[in-house]
Order: sequence, then C-alpha cells, then structure tokens
Amino acid sequence: MAILLKSDPDDTRGWEAELARRLPGVEVRIWPEVGDPAEIEFCVGWAFPPGSLRGFPKLKGLQSLGAGVDHVFRDPVLPAHLPIARIVDPYMTEDMTQWVMLNVLRFHKQDPDYRRLQAEGRWHELPPLSWQARRVGVMGLGELGGHALARLRHFGYPLAGWSRTAKRVDGVETFAGEAGLQPFLARTDILVALLPLTPATENLLDRRRLSWLPPGACVINAGRGRLIVDEDLIALLDSGHLGGAALDVFRREPLEPDHPFWRHPSVIVAPHVSALTRAETAAPQIVENYRRALAGEPLLHLVDRQRRY
Ligand code: NAP
Ligand code: GLV
Repeated sequence: MAILLKSDPDDTRGWEAELARRLPGVEVRIWPEVGDPAEIEFCVGWAFPPGSLRGFPKLKGLQSLGAGVDHVFRDPVLPAHLPIARIVDPYMTEDMTQWVMLNVLRFHKQDPDYRRLQAEGRWHELPPLSWQARRVGVMGLGELGGHALARLRHFGYPLAGWSRTAKRVDGVETFAGEAGLQPFLARTDILVALLPLTPATENLLDRRRLSWLPPGACVINAGRGRLIVDEDLIALLDSGHLGGAALDVFRREPLEPDHPFWRHPSVIVAPHVSALTRAETAAPQIVENYRRALAGEPLLHLVDRQRRY
C-alpha cells in the first residue's frame, strides 16, 4: 500500500523525506512512477492530470499540497466519493500576511512613485496621505484574509472585509455577497484579494467592478490570477483610475514572457511566492489525514465540493 506524491519538482525530495520520516513503513511513490495503481491509497499533490485519480481503485483521500484546490476541480471526472483536504498551516498564514503587509505598506508609503523619482534622480516630496485615511479592504475572510486583517489592525488603517456569507470581525467593517460588493469596493483604497478561485469568483474583478474602486486605488492579488480580468486591470491602470497593482498569481503560470504585466510601470510581479507550502510545518496534518483516510474518519481541512473551497 502506498502514498502517491506529485509536487513541484524542486520540492519533491523535501516532501518525500518529510513523509517517509513520519510514516515509517509506508511507501511514498513519486508521480509519474505510479507502480501498481491498485496499491495507491492516498494522493498528495498539486494538479494531478485530469482523469488520473480515477485510475486508482483503492484511493481513499486526496490531499492538496496548497491552500487552494481549484487545481483539483479542473478534473471533470474527479471520483465522487473522494474526500479532498487542503492545507491550513499557521506558518503559511503568517507568511501570506507578511507579503500582504509588504504591499499594503509599499502602496501606502507611495514607494512605487518614490522609486520612479529615484530613477529620474529627482528629490521631490509627494503629498502624503494619513494612514487614518487609507482604507484597506480584504476580499476573503477565511484563514488568510482573517489573519491579514488582524495584523493590519495594528497599523490603524480603516479596514473592511468581504466574504460570501455575513461575518462579524472586530475592528473591521464587513460586507457580504453580491449586494455588499459595490459598497465594499467603493470604500477601498487598497484592495487585497485573498479569495479562492471558484465558478463564482472567476473574473469577478472585471472592468465594471474594478471601476467601483475610488480613483487612485491599488490592487493586491495573492488569491488566484483568474479572479482578475487582465486587460481590464491594465486598461484601468492606463487610464489612471487605478494607481498600481501587486500581483503574485496569474491566469497562466509561469506568466508568459510577453505578458504586458512584466513591463507595465504600475505593476509589481511576484512569481507565486507570497506563501509557499512548507514541508516541515505542513507534513503533520498530511500524515494525520492519511491516517484518517485509511480509518474512514473525516479529514482535517476538508473541502466542500459544492462551494469548491
Ligand atoms: P478559506 O479559509 O477557504 O477562505 C476563503 C474566503 O473566501 C472565505 O471568507 C469565503 O467566504 C470567501 N469566498 C469564497 N467564495 C466567495 C464568493 N463567491 N464571494 C465572496 N467571498 C467568497 O481560504 P484561505 O485559506 O483563506 O485561502 C484563500 C485562497 O488564497 C486560496 O484558495 C488560494 O487560492 C489562495 N492562496 C494563495 C497562495 C499564494 O501563494 N499566492 C497561498 C495560499 C493560498 P465565507 O467565509 O463566507 O465562506
Ligand atoms: C498556493 O497558491 C496555495 O494555494 O497554497
């Protein structure tokens, strides 16, 4: 009986060692060296090719190697009985919060403008904006969005959050659902997108909705690239309605070499590194989920197939 691991090739050895160390006697096979498919009981990984999971008749659980599971739902023939778990790891959550803070502070402190002035060799003071007037809004009030907001509170920005279902969060003005989106965006100078990609969130930030942001607003996206319509974001940056964007996730990754984001003066590109899954801290929950899957117990951080997150 075996676990099948499919990770980023750069990480595979780390994951293999971490799982093997914690599960002595359990064979860890590395995709695509599957061996006898009837021996695979648990899959751990990222973006198994559509249709492949159907080929393991004794499969009892699927563990995403990330917090997001949109890569799982790309499979149109995902076995219906299969429980799916995602990573929720305090290390990853804190890592994401730090990336969010880096970019909120970057935009609040007008760092992109000061870098442009530096490139021109110009000593010039821009009119400052008080942090008490810089309204930050976070889309997604789950593990990541909730933690980012808790940390952002220490900076004193007026905060808001938007989620699918109504929430109460200390010190945060909350909005929910379709009806809450326009008022949420209209009061947000720095928008942080930490939503999962689902049929309901794909292309959510299109020209119409991005235009609800106030003039000069900045967009930070670490959720998924497909939340945003690229051309619409670029058009609003070019028109001056939006002031800047910091993007860690893209519709296609790696970002195509000729994509306009690379060279756009108002776009900061990061190669999907805001919060990586770390084997040392995430392995214990995977090992526990392996045990649970075999015992027929509910997995930790189980994904809701209807909601798709
Ligand atoms: P989570 O705990 O499941 O939280 C998701 C949040 O999004 C919830 O508050 C949920 O609302 C809200 N939401 C979902 N669908 C919505 C909709 N249609 N309208 C409004 N709100 C909606 O997820 P998480 O752990 O915070 O992770 C969020 C995403 O971050 C992941 O799915 C992944 O795509 C991304 N991520 C990126 C990186 C990276 O390195 N860039 C790393 C980790 C994760 P409710 O509270 O009402 O359910
Ligand atoms: C990374 O993008 C993740 O979903 O964990």
